[in-house]
Amino acid sequence: MIGEYKLNEIYNEDCYEAIKRIPDKSVDCVYVDVPYLYKTGGAGTSDIAKRATKNKMELMGVGNLYEKNLKPSENLRIAQNKKKAKQDLLNANLSDGFDYKTFIKETFRIMKKPNMFIWCSPMQILDLMNEINKYTVSTINILTWNKTNPIPTTNNNWLSDIEYCLYVRDNIKLNDGYELKSKWYISPINKPDKDLYNHPTIKPLELVKRHLLHTTQENDIVADFFLGSGTTCVAAKEIGRKYIGFEIDKKYYEIAKDRLNGISADGQMSIFTDFEQMKMGFD
Ligand SMILES: C[S@@+](CC[C@H](N)C(=O)[O-])C[C@H]1O[C@@H](n2cnc3c(N)ncnc32)[C@H](O)[C@@H]1O
Repeated sequence: MIGEYKLNEIYNEDCYEAIKRIPDKSVDCVYVDVPYLYKTGGAGTSDIAKRATKNKMELMGVGNLYEKNLKPSENLRIAQNKKKAKQDLLNANLSDGFDYKTFIKETFRIMKKPNMFIWCSPMQILDLMNEINKYTVSTINILTWNKTNPIPTTNNNWLSDIEYCLYVRDNIKLNDGYELKSKWYISPINKPDKDLYNHPTIKPLELVKRHLLHTTQENDIVADFFLGSGTTCVAAKEIGRKYIGFEIDKKYYEIAKDRLNGISADGQMSIFTDFEQMKMGFD
């Protein structure tokens, strides 16, 4: 047990409520892939969401209106644009549902020693690093997953071929193994797993296993508060770590539960591990 929660179980709960019920210094490693913040999204109330909204308003030419001395007709046009832009922002699907201040505070409370992985979008890195620095002076590593076949982009953007994972530790022993020690991992996008487990942002199981093999010991407790399709818990289970996980969305929770029982989203029992399927070229 870990407080009122059973180990090696996952829960369909809001993690901000659940984490408060986890006792102090009870978890060896926190491994999460948080809801990403994108510049192209909508409005929100967190600091980073406000900044993204402001950036977007400025990009759309509707920011800082009141500093300008414009003719009434120009003001009217801009006001209309501003109204439309606001509506677009409200309609858009910005993933800002991440209260990083509460989350970081609580994770430092529940970890025995700082040992935490946070997958996030580039826009979240600055805030997260600043927040983490309030609790520890340890170095933060930026680990990456480099994708060999990203979706092409036609607009004024770089390819989205790198994903970032912050890793913070204090007084944690790193295990040996040349491959485990690599800060980057390269593979095609995770299409086989996406198809099998029906989650848009699923991470490569093999990579999560590597991270956990490097930074945790057998029977250590690994906690994931944004489970998605359950990759962290499956990885922990396969390498002999204990786990606990939380997912707010009932559909993803059910997928993760089935996945932990070896059943894919279409109800098929898996006969190969995800990594074996990737090696066999099922993508
Ligand atoms: C980026 S995805 C995680 C994907 C996961 N790494 C995988 O490999 O499948 C983040 C997940 O967090 C869940 N989530 C968002 N807010 C949450 C909350 N307050 N409590 C628990 N889960 C939450 C979302 O439903 C989503 O499935």
